[in-house]
Amino acid sequence: MSGTTGKKAVLTLNDKNIELPIYSGTLGPDVIDVKDVLAQDYFTFDPGFMATSSCESKITFIDGDKGVLLHRGYPIAQLAEKADYLEVCYLLLNGELPTAAQKKEFDALVMNHTMVHDQLRKFFEGFRRDAHPMAVMCGVVGALSAFYHDGLDVADPKHREITAIRLIAKIPTIAAMSYKYTVGQPFMYPRNDLDYAENFLHMMFATPADRDYKVNPILAKAMDRIFTLHADHEQNASTSTVRMAGSTGANPYACIAAGIAALWGPAHGGANEAVLKMLDEIGTIENVAPFMEKVKTKEVKLMGFGHRVYKNFDPRAKVMKQTCDEVLEALGINDPQLALAMELEKIALSDPYFIERKLYPNVDFYSGIILKAIGIPTSMFTVIFALARTVGWISHWLEMHSAPYKIARPRQLYTGPAQRDFVAVDKR
Ligand code: SDX
Repeated sequence: MSGTTGKKAVLTLNDKNIELPIYSGTLGPDVIDVKDVLAQDYFTFDPGFMATSSCESKITFIDGDKGVLLHRGYPIAQLAEKADYLEVCYLLLNGELPTAAQKKEFDALVMNHTMVHDQLRKFFEGFRRDAHPMAVMCGVVGALSAFYHDGLDVADPKHREITAIRLIAKIPTIAAMSYKYTVGQPFMYPRNDLDYAENFLHMMFATPADRDYKVNPILAKAMDRIFTLHADHEQNASTSTVRMAGSTGANPYACIAAGIAALWGPAHGGANEAVLKMLDEIGTIENVAPFMEKVKTKEVKLMGFGHRVYKNFDPRAKVMKQTCDEVLEALGINDPQLALAMELEKIALSDPYFIERKLYPNVDFYSGIILKAIGIPTSMFTVIFALARTVGWISHWLEMHSAPYKIARPRQLYTGPAQRDFVAVDKR
């Protein structure tokens, strides 16, 4: 524990004053170490972990009230504008931005691990062609354990390091394969001569029949920025899932597969797909007002709005909106769904229902519109999120393994039946 203050909280339990240590971090609220309540035969109670710090971390800081997001101290807007995604990967993994030489070496290392074991292709054949790509991702990434499990000692820093590179490098290849499989096109091999985002779009949209396929640089830049905006986000549900799975000593491929599964939910990473479905259902601007009434009566949620932590603008949403405008203008696309989204945002930001609940657009509100402009099908939106978040998951997994840790094992408030004796069925 590197944060300490010497301050104490005093809790009165069973007519006794219990002193609980308070720790301070670099930024954000102090934390109260509550483990001593156990000695007084108490558990703490915090469903959904609204007020619980699960760990100490140096990777990402979020101030929800001010709409601040820092990766190793750097504001997300600066990283999105000035760094590329692999630079952000290096920063998240190592704590510092790479020098020019370090970046060159890191980029080459990642790009040289983009191929997957050719036998992995057979795992795809077990899925129906109309399988949701997230189902394919959960299965195939988990299956990587079968290829690397024996060669992986989670206690060995060298094994952990190469695994991080393998996952960051191979996740775009597997994501593109998940798409190609569902559309019945042949898999495209990665190309080491392309940069990370360009290579991904190449594997997604090139075909063996089109030898001259070139990725539009505007789309490659937008894709790279979308990866950066999704790279990490503190102890969100999927990252906490990865940490919890990792705390059992499970291999990282299994942990990342668990993170992918957790991200899939519409309350989390599945929201970007849900936003496009919502915009499709609303259809026209005339239908916005009646839709908003259904939101207020809680019949539906305004997908892409609200956040557990941000009670102000999600800083990623601001950059995403700016990127959305740039891409659509550069491509000369006039997407009516963008106008619809802007009308929804305008109404929500001026309506007391949303203002009272501090509901603002989050990272998922505009991302789908850009992904659609890039040509990514809606079913692949959460796959893109999982691809980009893999570096965040792995960074937290590495951080957990870099210091002593205990298996995550929460307790409960039990309200079930008290102990009772079994009665044979003919006596009940
Ligand atoms: C991500 O945690 C992370 O960091 C996640 C993420 C990341 O990068 O990892 O940022 C990615 O998951 C972004 C969030 C994407 N999800 C959505 O856009 C789905 C829609 N949003 C909601 O489901 C909701 O806002 C959550 C799940 C995101 C947050 O849920 P909370 O904190 O549990 O919010 P809450 O339910 O306590 O909301 C408070 C009030 C409630 O109303 P009251 O009971 O006070 O009357 O706001 C309402 C909620 O009903 N509310 C919404 C709403 N979100 C909350 N009402 C309508 N539409 C919404 N979207």
